[in-house]
Amino acid sequence: MTLLAIYAAEGGHHPMPEHLISEAALIQQELGQWGIQFQRWPARASLPEGADQAAILAAYAEEVAAVQRDGGYQTVDAIRLQPNHPDRAALRQKFLSEHTHSEDEVRFFVEGRGLFCLHVGDAVIQLVCEADDWISVPAGTRHWFDMGPEPQFCALRFFNNTEGWVAQFTGDPIAERFPTLPELINPSGR
Ligand SMILES: [Fe+2]
Repeated sequence: MTLLAIYAAEGGHHPMPEHLISEAALIQQELGQWGIQFQRWPARASLPEGADQAAILAAYAEEVAAVQRDGGYQTVDAIRLQPNHPDRAALRQKFLSEHTHSEDEVRFFVEGRGLFCLHVGDAVIQLVCEADDWISVPAGTRHWFDMGPEPQFCALRFFNNTEGWVAQFTGDPIAERFPTLPELINPSGR
């Protein structure tokens, strides 16, 4: 289930969320206040087990065309990770610290789930994205992403500036104080 949790950025370890929102229209409204676009796009296709990049993009050709038309995102690729991926620990770590990009981060989840964490103003917003969720995080937004220890997701990624693929890490250890993906979706399992 898609879930939005809002916290005060300042505070102790594992702060309690001030708001928890699971209704898509309210999530859209809340994120919109921070300049973050959120939409629901039905993930129509059921992808075969070994679907490669080209097959995934072909299955979503219509959505890709729509995003590229609206936002001017020239480049699109697909990332699909399974729980047994040999590099899953390193891949998880790569996105787990607060960073920014000089381009928008646009993702359309078509399978599984992942946790976007946005540090905006004096708030931290955590969004568990699931299949059908489309999110656009503006360039320069402080954020991190947790795919969990056993990643399972497929997302299309849209880029409007190929130089921005590099993350600029802020050096702020803020991510360590907030719930990880498994902690947020299964709080009793901590
Ligand atoms: Fe990022």
